[in-house]
Amino acid sequence: MTSARYEYDRRHNGHHERIDFLTSKEKVSSKRKLGIVIGVLLALLIVAAVAAFLVWLFVFKDADSEATLSKQLGPSAQVFSGHMKLVNVPYNVKLENTNGKEFEDLADKLEAVLKENYKNDPLLEKYHTKSVITAFSEGVIAYYWSKFDIPVVDLEVEPEFSEERVLKALEDGLKEQRSMGSPSDIKISEVTTSFTDPRMARNPRARECFFRLEAEEMAKGFSSPGYPSGYPSKSRCQWQIRASEGNVVFVTFPFFHVEDDCSNDFVSIYDSLSPDDSQAITEKCGQRPPSNPLEVVSSGNIMLINLITDTDVQRPGFEAKYKAIPRSKVKTCGGILSETQGVLTSPLHPSFYPPAVDCKWTIKVPAGKEVRLKFTMFRMKEPGVDIRVCHKDYVEVMGNKYCGEMTSLDLTSTTNFLDVTFHSDESYTDKGFSAIYSAYDPANPCPDKFACASGICIEKDLQCDGWNDCGDMSDERKCQCEKDQFACENGICKPKLWLCDRVNDCGDGSDEKKCSCGETEWLCGNGLCMPQDVVCDGKKDCEDGSDEASCETSPGICSDYSFKCKNAECVNKVNAECDRVNDCSDDSDEVDCACGTRPYKLNRIVGGQNAEMGEWPWQVSLHFKTYGHVCGASIISERWLLTASHCFVTNSAENLVASNWQTYSGLQDQYKHEGVQRQPVKRIVSHPNYNQMTFDYDIALLELSEPLKFTNTIQPICLPASSHVFPAGMSCWVTGWGARREGGSKAQLLQKAMVKIINDTVCNIVTEGQLTSRMLCSGFLAGGVDACQGDSGGPLVCFEESGKWFQAGIVSWGEGCARRNKPGVYSRVTKLIDWIKKETEN
Ligand code: ARG
Repeated sequence: MTSARYEYDRRHNGHHERIDFLTSKEKVSSKRKLGIVIGVLLALLIVAAVAAFLVWLFVFKDADSEATLSKQLGPSAQVFSGHMKLVNVPYNVKLENTNGKEFEDLADKLEAVLKENYKNDPLLEKYHTKSVITAFSEGVIAYYWSKFDIPVVDLEVEPEFSEERVLKALEDGLKEQRSMGSPSDIKISEVTTSFTDPRMARNPRARECFFRLEAEEMAKGFSSPGYPSGYPSKSRCQWQIRASEGNVVFVTFPFFHVEDDCSNDFVSIYDSLSPDDSQAITEKCGQRPPSNPLEVVSSGNIMLINLITDTDVQRPGFEAKYKAIPRSKVKTCGGILSETQGVLTSPLHPSFYPPAVDCKWTIKVPAGKEVRLKFTMFRMKEPGVDIRVCHKDYVEVMGNKYCGEMTSLDLTSTTNFLDVTFHSDESYTDKGFSAIYSAYDPANPCPDKFACASGICIEKDLQCDGWNDCGDMSDERKCQCEKDQFACENGICKPKLWLCDRVNDCGDGSDEKKCSCGETEWLCGNGLCMPQDVVCDGKKDCEDGSDEASCETSPGICSDYSFKCKNAECVNKVNAECDRVNDCSDDSDEVDCACGTRPYKLNRIVGGQNAEMGEWPWQVSLHFKTYGHVCGASIISERWLLTASHCFVTNSAENLVASNWQTYSGLQDQYKHEGVQRQPVKRIVSHPNYNQMTFDYDIALLELSEPLKFTNTIQPICLPASSHVFPAGMSCWVTGWGARREGGSKAQLLQKAMVKIINDTVCNIVTEGQLTSRMLCSGFLAGGVDACQGDSGGPLVCFEESGKWFQAGIVSWGEGCARRNKPGVYSRVTKLIDWIKKETEN
């Protein structure tokens, strides 16, 4: 379990005010003397006022508000919470009403017991200020918290407060009670305690933002205070939810938007009625798209939800639906699977699985066959877990435990049985897993195909062709290299063409190793070597100016890589624009930088190329007349979209008529138009140099008649300055509704693919010299991943370290799709940015 997840900022930055008095040694006139006396008096008054203010601020102001978190120098509040099991008290539903007499009587007694128990430890006794019973549930379980207030003068004892210490005091109390008989005639058989954020210590009799809800079969709802206009600052809200016995509580959040930084505002959910960290289900903040709702379930019939907010940023909050579901429905899992193929998932997947469940599946395939198990989604993340040990929640297969987040997991059995077990402990749950299994024949695992070491099957002629088709390279080992091939150090053969293209084709880096220039040489961006002393000599020696790119010592020198400020100054720093650092003296490198970010927090689901809602908020779908989607585009401002010229300049004049087009922004599913902004095109501006034969200058701008309203799913992409570098080998993303394979049909859901920027020289070779300086290549020479028909006009975007996405290319052309040695060709935005700027600046 995690200890002390909340670290308070208790910097003891004493406020030393320094007042410098006049200490003139010169002779002064009596008039001036009088002036000095008045000045000194005034200064003393000010000092006194400041001191009084500081005392008020740090000592009194915080002292009266309940459980104030001391951000500045101030007293510290340590809060522990947990539960106690009472043995000789019969359960009475009236105990659930925190305003009733039954509740009050029992709570008073127990609060006294707690106080008594802390007397076992002088330190705890000294600082204990309050203990509160917050709820009862069947069992009988009493939930409590205890607060210890340490004044500023005693802050050094703070580290002595530990869960172990508090637990020991409470347990010693139990022992005493057993031996001597308790004064309050209540018997406690069990007690737990853990560190708690003081902000979650609530009084159950409080009126404000404290709710008790009864979950039933029919879903009911609640929402955060102020929803949807915004939650109040300093909210301390709590919802205690109960279901009748034999049920569990299920809560889903159809809308969830809390500030991004969880240390400010957050929602925390417990499998208890105490904010007990050892029974936390999850803690969340940020914004979740409707495609990835938070859905949690309890292990018993109780759940506690907290909303904690600070004073700064107020977001809409959340909407929640809760219901009771029979425990048997979520807790019965596993069983014998005897079909030859099938699917297994964690309970309730893709909702969070419940805490404290164990499932066991036995997959049994016909004798002589074996089992292949492929996980399509795997997410079991917990704070403080070493994923090599998986001592908390895990999936176990053949003696190995798996936990954390995994992008691929393929397993094969050695017999015709395979046991899969799933375990979740009391704290922290997640989305779990989904896996498919199938039976296969171990003697001939791949009839008429090549069997990879991993157990998957590939076409025979993919063996020894220089491409890693298996994924584990097993199809490329023990191969004889051809004349035009290069032998990697790991024994794999690769086309010689791929040497020194800045992409690790061998997998062991050996094709990129001997590419550097001699020790006294400099490697230009185009692969040529130059004497080292050309670097930063104030002169452009490499064709691309890379020798002068990051030379702070050559101010004023403008290379291709210098960012040109509005005032004509040159900044010699790679990708200076919108990197959140002011580089130009007129700050012109940081204007118009509200772009390239995605507001939604995306909980990426592994496997699959479907984009999530809001993942690519700049992507636009262009519909032509009644044909539906034909091209992609990207949002570059409220009024302008960027796309490819070849979507408009065709053999048919109709394509150039603006009114024949509709634009859809905020779209993910072609058939779902919620949150989508549909806009007609006012004007099509195609590049005058666009060449239909060569696809040179394949770029166009669409002006919208009405400005777009930016939302969570509609945002502009950042455009790079002409000096921006997207180096070969960089991983970027291309998105669109285009064909999913060559000759295939268009996609209904927006697709995404990761592609790598390819070296220009290599690309010019593989495209047989068709590359112009307005084009760039991206993809994999190995093939397999690419844009395709219908993706045209869409963006190729790259994520920069500064935390923003920039558009490097526009989908333009390619020979077929995803073919080997035929990467996708894109219009190079950096070469066309001046034209874009000129056309869009009114
Ligand atoms: N011209 C195509 C279109 O109209 C896009 C081709 C992109 N092809 C590729 N292999 N990258 O949609």
